[in-house]
Amino acid sequence: MSHPTKQFKNPVLNWIEYRLPIFSLIDNSVGSGYPTPKNLSYWWNFGSLAGFVLVIMIATGILLAMQYTPHETMAFSSVEHIMRDVNWGWLIRYLHMNGGSMFFILVYIHVFRGVYYGSHKKPRELLWIIGVIILFIMIITAFLGYVLPWGQMSYWGATVITSMLSAVPVVGDDLTIWLWGGFTVDNPTLNRFFSLHYLLPFTILGLVILHVWALHEHKSNNPLGIDVQGPQDTIPFHPYYTVKDLFGVGVFLIFYLYFVFFAPNFFGEPDNYIPANPLLTPPHIVPEWYFLPFYAILRAFTVDIWGITAKLQGVVAMVMAVLLLAALPWLDGSRVRSMSFRPRSRIFFWTFVANCIFLGYLGGQVAEEPYVILGKISTAYYFAYLLIILPFVSRTEDVDEVPESISAAVSKQ
Ligand code: HEM
Repeated sequence: MSHPTKQFKNPVLNWIEYRLPIFSLIDNSVGSGYPTPKNLSYWWNFGSLAGFVLVIMIATGILLAMQYTPHETMAFSSVEHIMRDVNWGWLIRYLHMNGGSMFFILVYIHVFRGVYYGSHKKPRELLWIIGVIILFIMIITAFLGYVLPWGQMSYWGATVITSMLSAVPVVGDDLTIWLWGGFTVDNPTLNRFFSLHYLLPFTILGLVILHVWALHEHKSNNPLGIDVQGPQDTIPFHPYYTVKDLFGVGVFLIFYLYFVFFAPNFFGEPDNYIPANPLLTPPHIVPEWYFLPFYAILRAFTVDIWGITAKLQGVVAMVMAVLLLAALPWLDGSRVRSMSFRPRSRIFFWTFVANCIFLGYLGGQVAEEPYVILGKISTAYYFAYLLIILPFVSRTEDVDEVPESISAAVSKQ
């Protein structure tokens, strides 16, 4: 029989701990009982920050749902009602709206950090794969949420993206009608999108619990990418990293709240303040900024090949651009995790990051030259990096000398 490990002066706490050892669980997860590599840099703040924003998104989302009406005739005005009439409604909406953008900024940095330091490599492959699934569901959730205010961009964005399903051979058109719940994006679409937008964040929350569970099994990687060899390489999570994470939350809040209070529509599209009009297509339909790289990949395919339509090619490429990330632990074949010791991988990695940003820029441009050809080149590099350059370079490059242990490297500094 297992016994609780923690003893408290307070008898009530002891009573609870004896029956449900929840305090030991907390202590072993984020407390002084959780040994953590002593050399973690600020790049390791982004996971906890993403968790913080997830909580804010769920809390503000639940409050918004109390005043929002998912009906085509009322959705737009119910959002205006939240902005104008509901006490603090404007703040709750702006926190949620800008929180979406913040979430993607944090998670994108979190993902690139993982690639750079080889955090996806053995034994953290499953932790990584759960992360990719989280990212995929985050993308769907954000897309569904953007439809809810039922402005022009909501409506036409939803029409463009859902119509992609019609590219699926044979059953594409039927699938699209099934998804819409009718013959166009309409009230049934809005209703089901609201329902799913409410549900999916909780799915993400469940996956985050699995993600952190998997993390705790083998503990955090670190900037050197070498394994912890003993207590000399670690410090307790609390107070060292609780304080460091809290400091990160403070800095992040300054950044986040700047947008909420001073530039709340910075990330948004003015067209979405015009009510949805199925009879008037806006001249330039653009998705939210965090989808732009994927949008550029979608539009990079313009020629039908062997009967496969350009549209289908684009859709498959766009989905693969996310799902392929799940194979990174095997595509990166280096015996050394951290790119700090892999000079050639490092060059290609930063080129890849710059290319992703450039794809984002291209996704926001109108589909004409030179953007179309640049989009094709940029898309080619995206996949070439993942499928050819990284597998090849990681297996053939000369690596620098890796320190023998974390404590040896730290005491040398
Ligand atoms: C809701 C989104 C997410 C949350 C709340 C979250 C949370 C966390 C937390 C708290 C950590 C530990 C602290 C840290 O290393 O920064 C972590 C580590 C990690 N996460 Fe995430 N994560 C999310 C999304 C993702 C995604 C999309 C990926 C990859 C595709 C990913 C991959 C990883 C990896 C590989 C680690 C281990 C890092 C290391 O030890 O070096 N995470 N995550």
